[in-house]
Amino acid sequence: MTANDQKIVVVLATGGTIAGTAASADDSIGYRAAQLGVDDLLKAAAVPVGNGIEVMGEEVAQVDSKDMDFAVWQRLLRRTSHWLSRPDVRSVVVTHGTDTLEETAWFLHLALDAQILRAKPVVFTCAMRPATSSAADGPQNLRDAIAVATDPGARGVMAVCAGVVHGATDVQKAHTYRLDAFDSGDAGPLGYVEDGGLRKVRAWPDPPKVRVWATAEAIASTVRWPRVEIIMNHAGTDGAIVPALLAHGERSCNPVLGVVVSGTGNGSLHHTLEMELLKARASGLQVVRATRCARGRVIPVPGQAIPDSDGQSPVKARVSMLLRLM
Ligand code: SIN
Repeated sequence: MTANDQKIVVVLATGGTIAGTAASADDSIGYRAAQLGVDDLLKAAAVPVGNGIEVMGEEVAQVDSKDMDFAVWQRLLRRTSHWLSRPDVRSVVVTHGTDTLEETAWFLHLALDAQILRAKPVVFTCAMRPATSSAADGPQNLRDAIAVATDPGARGVMAVCAGVVHGATDVQKAHTYRLDAFDSGDAGPLGYVEDGGLRKVRAWPDPPKVRVWATAEAIASTVRWPRVEIIMNHAGTDGAIVPALLAHGERSCNPVLGVVVSGTGNGSLHHTLEMELLKARASGLQVVRATRCARGRVIPVPGQAIPDSDGQSPVKARVSMLLRLM
């Protein structure tokens, strides 16, 4: 079957502001996320049909993405794998809240079968204003995501918001309010959607070259996830958070197996925090050093005991560690 025979784009809905409603069409802040079903989203987007493409919708979850959890990730992984393995399906579009979109996109980038991602795209989209807003951005974002998802040759996990296409590796929510809320940092976007057409400026995202974690099937059926926490370096820390976390893990029978530390600048750590982390590491805790800076990566310093996050933000480094520890 060739790309021409792949006629179906499946829109998997998970909730978010794109499915949110407010009492007034002027209200873009005091709304409830995750209220409308996938059929409402497709209807509002008035997705243009033609070229033999069929758009189908399925509801995977209905969550405000601040409440995203492993069960929804597993369901989404299962449904995305299911649809993409069908020869007549061209792509999957995921509607998602903006708040944790980058974590879910990174999760699918790592967890989905690499062979599938080398052939087909998964395109996340979202909205910064609820569906009831007189100037809702969700319908256009969904149309743009479908335009990317049907572009010949599109592959890999990405996100489309406000006409900008970001790769899962680089995408990060960078603004609390603007419609163009995402950023790809130093790497820059993959492209732009302009009047329904894609202008690509970088190559499609490649799946990870080496897979050191479980298969998609095993991840989707894992019952007990490892516990990985994020802590931050800041002025005046005394590092006491580290033994406190470990003690809590022991008490609650949910031991902390890993910590991502969001360091200052080039991943630097207050000497007290570093000392506590090194002690914990010596007794088996996995520790990775990321940065709390919005831009740039932690550049490895020779001889540093705590490894860097390989350019991943703290939240993405946590997802990677979760899968490695699984
Ligand atoms: C959410 O992340 O679900 C709510 C906020 C948003 O989508 O912008």
